[in-house]
Amino acid sequence: MDKKITKAVFPVAGLGTRFLPATKASPKEMLAVVDKPLIQYAVEEAYEAGIREMIFVTGRNKRAIEDHFDTAYELESELEASGKKALLDLVHSIKPDDMDCFYVRQPKSLGLGHAVLCAEKLINQEPFAVLLADDLMVGVTPILRQMTELYAKHQCSILAVQEVPREETQRYGIVKGTQYAERLLDVSDFVEKPKPEVAPSNLAVAGRYILSPAVFENIRRQPKGAGGEIQLTDAIAALIGKEKILAFSYEGNRYDCGSKLGLLQATVDLGLAHPELGAEFKSWLALRR
Ligand code: UTP
Repeated sequence: MDKKITKAVFPVAGLGTRFLPATKASPKEMLAVVDKPLIQYAVEEAYEAGIREMIFVTGRNKRAIEDHFDTAYELESELEASGKKALLDLVHSIKPDDMDCFYVRQPKSLGLGHAVLCAEKLINQEPFAVLLADDLMVGVTPILRQMTELYAKHQCSILAVQEVPREETQRYGIVKGTQYAERLLDVSDFVEKPKPEVAPSNLAVAGRYILSPAVFENIRRQPKGAGGEIQLTDAIAALIGKEKILAFSYEGNRYDCGSKLGLLQATVDLGLAHPELGAEFKSWLALRR
């Protein structure tokens, strides 16, 4: 029987050191672009892909994320009392009634692979999605939706990829593969943060994955990899040759909001595209030149 992706894992337990001091007491996934925290963009993307079970792998600063997706009685009753219906609807829309949130704790920031392993019991041997909220992805069709549609057809692990300048390969997981179909490669190699001179290509994995549950066993067996962390990349690479893995050149843009420059770029682009602010922001920006 064909399987469907019903669960998404959001690893949000990283230390976010590149954003200190902003991330000292709150997770980087709560940084906002215009008026929404990064984690909400990612959850909305998963919801638009038909996923209803959201699993957050949290760390020491988990409160803000749990609170964001929880009922805020005080705020809601104030908005209700003052007749601010539109704002009340906005607050309610953060967690639609048919969406469930689950939280599991990663006791130590041992790496992305380890964070994903912490969700294993909640996944229950099903294929699942992983979204890194600090990669803000924007597409006419949401990127994860493009991927779940492909999953329905191919029933295998799928990695979202994009070309990056050669000199930047050391910042990404890099894949190599052979042409499989339009926008799809059959992955034959996957390496975490290779130096440009040894990188197998310049195709970098962005923070969206659909993974087979077989990856958990590989993570468990994985020694520490690049940066002394238990890497998701190594566990996925260990699936090559055993299961099909496709690399998908998605249609859309990625903003690396784990970096200051990326967050600024996202803020400008989404600010310009904002239905209420866009025009005014555009004139203001033009005057700054
Ligand atoms: P990053 O590689 O960006 O690491 O993690 P980081 O610690 O969050 O940030 P910097 O480099 O110190 O600034 C990619 C994603 O994996 C999660 C992060 O929360 C982020 O969404 N992550 C990383 C975990 O959940 N646990 C970890 O142990 C590591």
